[in-house]
Amino acid sequence: MASVYHSFLGLVFLSLYFIHSTSTSHVYIVYLGLNNIQDPILTSNYHLQLLSNVVPSQQDARKSMLYSYKHSFSGFSAKINSTQAATLARMDRVISVFKSRILRLHTTRSWDFMGLHLDPIGDQETPLQLRHGDNTIVALFDTGVWPESKSFHEEPNMHPIPKTWRGKCVKGQDFDPKTSCNLKLIGARYYLKGYEQEHGPLNTTVTSEYRSSRDANGHGTHTASTAVGSTVKKASFLGIGLGTARGGAPRARLAVYKVCWEDGRCNEADILAAFDDAIHDGVDVISASFGLPPPLVPFYESSSDIGSFHAMQKGISVIFSAGNSGPDPALVQNVAPWSTCVAASSIDRNFLTKILVDNSLSFTGESLNTEHIEATLVGARTYFRGGICRPSRWINNDASGTVILCFSAPGAVQIQEAEVAAWVANATGLIFVDSPTRQYVDADIIPTIRVDIIQGTKMNRYLSQNMSSLPKVHIFPSKTVIKQSPAPIVAEFSSRGPSSTSPDILKPDISAPGISILAAWPPGIPPTSTNIDKRSVDWNFLSGTSMSCPHVSGIVALVKSLHPDWSPAAIRSALMTTAYNRDTNHDSILSAGTNEESNFFDIGAGHVNPLKAIDPGLVYDLKADDYVLFLCNNGYTEDQIKRIISLSPGVNVNCPKGRKSNTNLNYPSITVSSLESMITVKRTVRNVGGRKSSVYIARIVCPHGVEVTVWPRILFFSYFRDEISYYVSFKPQKMSQGRYDYGEIVWSDGYHTVRSPLAVCVNTATPAATAIDDSSQAFDQLLPLAAGTASS
Ligand SMILES: *[C@@H]1O[C@H](CO)[C@@H](O)[C@H](O)[C@H]1NC(C)=O
Ligand SMILES: *[C@@H]1O[C@H](CO)[C@@H](O)[C@H](O)[C@H]1NC(C)=O
Ligand SMILES: *[C@@H]1O[C@H](CO)[C@@H](O)[C@H](O)[C@H]1NC(C)=O
Ligand SMILES: *[C@@H]1O[C@H](CO)[C@@H](O)[C@H](O)[C@H]1NC(C)=O
Repeated sequence: MASVYHSFLGLVFLSLYFIHSTSTSHVYIVYLGLNNIQDPILTSNYHLQLLSNVVPSQQDARKSMLYSYKHSFSGFSAKINSTQAATLARMDRVISVFKSRILRLHTTRSWDFMGLHLDPIGDQETPLQLRHGDNTIVALFDTGVWPESKSFHEEPNMHPIPKTWRGKCVKGQDFDPKTSCNLKLIGARYYLKGYEQEHGPLNTTVTSEYRSSRDANGHGTHTASTAVGSTVKKASFLGIGLGTARGGAPRARLAVYKVCWEDGRCNEADILAAFDDAIHDGVDVISASFGLPPPLVPFYESSSDIGSFHAMQKGISVIFSAGNSGPDPALVQNVAPWSTCVAASSIDRNFLTKILVDNSLSFTGESLNTEHIEATLVGARTYFRGGICRPSRWINNDASGTVILCFSAPGAVQIQEAEVAAWVANATGLIFVDSPTRQYVDADIIPTIRVDIIQGTKMNRYLSQNMSSLPKVHIFPSKTVIKQSPAPIVAEFSSRGPSSTSPDILKPDISAPGISILAAWPPGIPPTSTNIDKRSVDWNFLSGTSMSCPHVSGIVALVKSLHPDWSPAAIRSALMTTAYNRDTNHDSILSAGTNEESNFFDIGAGHVNPLKAIDPGLVYDLKADDYVLFLCNNGYTEDQIKRIISLSPGVNVNCPKGRKSNTNLNYPSITVSSLESMITVKRTVRNVGGRKSSVYIARIVCPHGVEVTVWPRILFFSYFRDEISYYVSFKPQKMSQGRYDYGEIVWSDGYHTVRSPLAVCVNTATPAATAIDDSSQAFDQLLPLAAGTASS
């Protein structure tokens, strides 16, 4: 009873707080759709005029306006209160008004693992796909860049900057365009008006932040070098993971738009300003590793979705991370069908660390350990109340000279907490025991070896059997090994589908490496980003969908450089239909977190395969017009749709009455979120293979309990016919109350394999609405079933 009362009180306080906070002003974004006034000055004047309708004077309008979005679409952001926002929202021209939210930020071996081998003997000719790319420009929306990193030095023989480039390198604190920018790093802008409204003025004397595009966090430098970093030999983290580092498109140009700051926060008003500029500057790809976990907001209330929609209309691919909210289902972020959403998986590299106890028992863990450690092995109870390795549980015992054995399970301790606890207790090292599916190696504040629960249990047993003597432990420097364990495996943290706003569009789209990725790092920032860490490194290991997203951005830049006329949808289709679903053992890809076979909601169409993506055979294309029905379904009015899409001549907007399914959107995957009776879905493919006349034949794998029919089964492409539609009908063949089953359609001409995932949720059974209030009745109903199982 007490706890109920408590939470009730909490609710009251929360709502009081909410009322209070809405009565003051806040940064709002006012979105107006396409920019029909071509002159940016006139557009800005128009925005000021609109805003002056709700503030006392023109002067107040100038003061409260943060940005006027005037190049690539129309809108503005301003500091106003909720009444003023509501008044603006009622105006005819206005599509949406929403509060600017704060979004959060979510390799050497990785490229070789994906088949982009780099010849170690430098004389040989560079592989075809790596000679290209300097005609493409990749924009990173992140925490800025460390321009001195070798990853941003010019590659040999780079051509002059593409003539289409209209961006610039903006001068700022510790950022001189003359020395920081070159043929590789061609653009650098930063945006902090929204951030400062939220946090107060940036005080660079109390933080290490720079009022410029210089990176004070490290995340932006890391992601930029993953996407487009130049080739750098002998990259390693203090000797670990030694090899040649380079980005997915090492010759592509980099344009940095700093919208996230040292604390990993990114304001939507700033993000939309970056989209406005980047689209106008002429970038080809935008890579953004940020978002917010569900509840997701409608597309017209999200800077990322609005910005990426206008980017798509200008032929710019926008790549987002799926988020780190896994492994529970339906928490995927950045789900708009006009952008690409990337999940994270492992690569086939491990950092094995040998542990020897009393010179007799040997264990193998994983870490980034560079030292040879000799110490006493001690259980957690000696230093922490209840054996729970948290700083608050420390019982003031000095642990110097010991390595503490900590289990994650009691009290659900995170590895970072245990590291801080061991550091507080002054321990020499930490052995952290956790489920193997949650383990991945990142930099630690004290030597920390991750071991699985079986080895941890053995160690614990040994400790309890040798109470009188204190066991000696030797820990050896970590060794980098490859091809030791199956890969890829979907990361436990990677956010899973289905999308919580449009479940009939498969998200995430694709998976790429995101576990223990080695990439460039600012030497002034400790690898653990904590001030107790005194190390300085040029390369650092990070994990997250933040890391997988720029892998895909780099590959998109490669594909774009070879096929400059392909639309963002065609490029994404090329990536998705050529992705693979088998690991290095030719087995199905596992999903960490469940340790079961992954499905399309874990991994999207599969793991990205850059070499195949260059030549996909067929593509599923989409133009801006094709999103009309999708936008109708998502609450846009016909009038609003006309104001956000530059429609092709002759295209009319007719929103059907009632919600229609989005299954006919020409996506490379088909998701039916509720199959009650037979439905037919249409898809159109275009032949982009080398041969104009080719014959493709369909192979179908039906989801369990669903009959799938494809018509026609054979597609004949010729000089006169490069685009053909086909139909797929889905017929439920079982009683089910809503559970996804998976299949695929694979088109092949004998050389290309064009694979589309099918995810179908059969919903044929009428739920029994009778409430059961008698428990014995429920038990009776279960009995025959149990008997049946036993006899079979
Ligand atoms: C918002 O500001 C206007 C003009 O200053 C004022 O009239 C109105 O009461 C304010 N509304 C709220 C909710 O504070
Ligand atoms: C920044 O912080 C320092 C130390 O608190 C203070 O002395 C200084 O006035 C601040 N500067 C600004 C611009 O607020
Ligand atoms: C931590 O260990 C060092 C060296 O082992 C020792 O000099 C120091 O006194 C210890 N600190 C505490 C708080 O016990
Ligand atoms: C620790 O216990 C194990 C198992 O009981 C025993 O074999 C071993 O000799 C013991 N070691 C020491 C150093 O006491």
